[in-house]
Amino acid sequence: MIGERLCKALNDQIKNELESYYIYLSMAAYFHSLSLDGMGQWMRCQAHEEMIHATKFFDHIIDRGGKVVLQDVKQLKTEWSSPLEAFRDAYEHEKFITGKINELTTIAREEKDYASEPILAWFSDEQIEEEASTGKIADELEMVGEDKSGLLLIDRELGTRTYPPGSPFDPAAASGE
Ligand code: FEO
Repeated sequence: MIGERLCKALNDQIKNELESYYIYLSMAAYFHSLSLDGMGQWMRCQAHEEMIHATKFFDHIIDRGGKVVLQDVKQLKTEWSSPLEAFRDAYEHEKFITGKINELTTIAREEKDYASEPILAWFSDEQIEEEASTGKIADELEMVGEDKSGLLLIDRELGTRTYPPGSPFDPAAASGE
C-alpha cells in the first residue's frame, strides 16, 4: 500500500498534469484563432497526452490502495504575443514538470516505495521527449523570425502529428466519422 506522503505528492502531480492538459488546450485555441491549424492540431495531441499522464497517476494511486483527491486547476493564460512565445512557455512548462517528476522520484526513494519506480522511470523518459519536442519547435520558430512562409511551413509540419487511437480530441472521432 502506498504511504501518505507519496500519495499526497502523486495527487499533486495529477493536478499538474491536468493543468498541463488545460494549458495546451488553451494554446490550441490560441493557434486556431490565428488560423495556424497545424499548431492547433499539435497542441490538441499534446493535450491528449497530458490527460493520459494524469490518468496514469490516477490509476497508480488506486492500484496501490491510495485515495485520489482531485484539486482545483488554476486559471490560465489564454493569449500569447506570438507562436514563439507560446512554444517557449510550453518548453518552460515541460522543464517545470521534469522538476516535479524528479521530486517524486526522490520522495519515492526516501519512502522506499520501490513499486513506484517503474512509473516514475517511464515519466523521466517521457520528459526527455517532452522537453526535446517543445524546445526544438521554439528553436525553429526563433530561426524563421518574421518570415511568414517559414511560419506556415512549420505549421504544416506540426499539423501532421496524429492523435492516439480513439482520442476524443480528434474531430473525426467526435463527429462519428
Ligand atoms: Fe505530462 Fe508534458 O508532461
